[in-house]
Amino acid sequence: MKNSTISELLHSDKILQEVNVKGWVRTFRANRFIALNDGSTINNIQCVVDFENTDESLLKKVTTGAAVSITGTLIESQGKGQKVEISVTSLEILGESNPDEYPIQPKKHSLEFLRENAHLRIRTNTFGAIMRVKSALSFAIHKYFTENGFYNFHAPIITGSDAEGAGEMFRVSVLDPNNIPKNDDGSVDYSQDFFGKETNLTVSGQLEAETYAMALGKVFTFGPTFRAENSNTTRHLAEFWMVEPEVAFMNLDGNMDLGEDFIKYVIQYALENCKDDIEFLEQRLLQDEKSKPAIERSPMPLIEKLKFVTENNFKRVSYTEAIDILRNSKPNKKKKFQFSINEWGADLQSEHERFLVEKHFKCPVILFDYPANIKAFYMRLNEDGKTVRAMDILFPGIGEIVGGAQREERLDVLKEKIKALDIDEKELWWYLDTRKFGTAVHSGFGLGFERLVLFVTGMGNIRDVIPYPRTPQNAEF
Ligand code: 4AD
Ligand code: MG
Repeated sequence: MKNSTISELLHSDKILQEVNVKGWVRTFRANRFIALNDGSTINNIQCVVDFENTDESLLKKVTTGAAVSITGTLIESQGKGQKVEISVTSLEILGESNPDEYPIQPKKHSLEFLRENAHLRIRTNTFGAIMRVKSALSFAIHKYFTENGFYNFHAPIITGSDAEGAGEMFRVSVLDPNNIPKNDDGSVDYSQDFFGKETNLTVSGQLEAETYAMALGKVFTFGPTFRAENSNTTRHLAEFWMVEPEVAFMNLDGNMDLGEDFIKYVIQYALENCKDDIEFLEQRLLQDEKSKPAIERSPMPLIEKLKFVTENNFKRVSYTEAIDILRNSKPNKKKKFQFSINEWGADLQSEHERFLVEKHFKCPVILFDYPANIKAFYMRLNEDGKTVRAMDILFPGIGEIVGGAQREERLDVLKEKIKALDIDEKELWWYLDTRKFGTAVHSGFGLGFERLVLFVTGMGNIRDVIPYPRTPQNAEF
């Protein structure tokens, strides 16, 4: 007999078929009703045991968390709450689970407690739902780009360059930390290291993506990126995944169109393909928010919020306009912002981004044309000589979800920028080559994948949308 998933059985109309399922016991009620889950869906299947004819020692082992194999007949459910159930003919315990020790009891656990048990939290409804949605979003990303003529390529993870120029990188080295070889001037002799030079984990695959776009036209890389920034917030991870499309012959307007269309597509995909999970997460959020003060609650239920994003245009606003709005805003005048906005040139903090999105425009916002000196070296300088063709997409509850730009394609301008920022030109020789040989207008962006998942699942902490979060002072599991 074929082994079925619970998802298949719950959608099956072949009543009376003999079936076998394997999964983990969620609850066992009245020595009779096993709620079984196998991860294929958020829904459990009810398995009804003929306890009078089943060995009592066997029934004792049907505890929360145990792995079981159940064979029986799929029948129309006698009780409420489900269409079908299994009338059990054979029950086999595959792996016992001591109920006194198993941390995931059938009751509500705090997210903090579950984070400490990240290896088992995936067995809860909440984390099962999050990770199924995340998997669907990952597929939708590949689907969107592939269907739109993009080639997927893998940017390297170990790199010798700092794409963002922010110096927040994790070193990759095999040198003995207790016996570091030094040059005569006292600096580290990296020529003796594995790669013969200083190397780090990448903060972004963009620079390599640019070289590929300048041959394949439209490319995207989707992989892990690493940042050693000491940001202990609900939006930052030291290891996260980034989706980075890069397109030749596309300017910033095209980049904004692409970003908006792409995000709407993947959210729509999740809405259509993860209905049960998102409905569950919506209910979870409603329950969760009951205990919060009204101003902290989201203005819309989850599904309405997601549809709002897919159905409405993102508002496009220049940095200069945004600064005017912020400068004259109530929280700024009443000194409610932690960082007040006094003049043009100020870097925007998450509180400002969220004010623009949540209070002022009340929709996703694309900010563009930022001051050159608060953005990375590779962004195209505007004619005004002080702003660059940058764009950030800002989302409610999240702040920045996408960062991107039209790239500086003029070799002389780029070289000057690199010099002004004291970046070693020699390290970027290969990058500069793209400006020497057939340079062209091109643009791209990076979407923080976990921030997207945070938005779509309605969760509040980025540590809960990645299996094993890496954050300052934390790399357990
Ligand atoms: O804005 P960022 O730093 O842009 C880049 O790295 C560009 N090179 C991307 C490109 O143009 N190809 O990062 C892009 C996005 C941010 O908007 C944010 O969503 C996410 O990556 N991000 C983080 N997500 C989680 N934890 C962190 N520490 C993050 N830092 C950035
Ligand atoms: Mg950014």
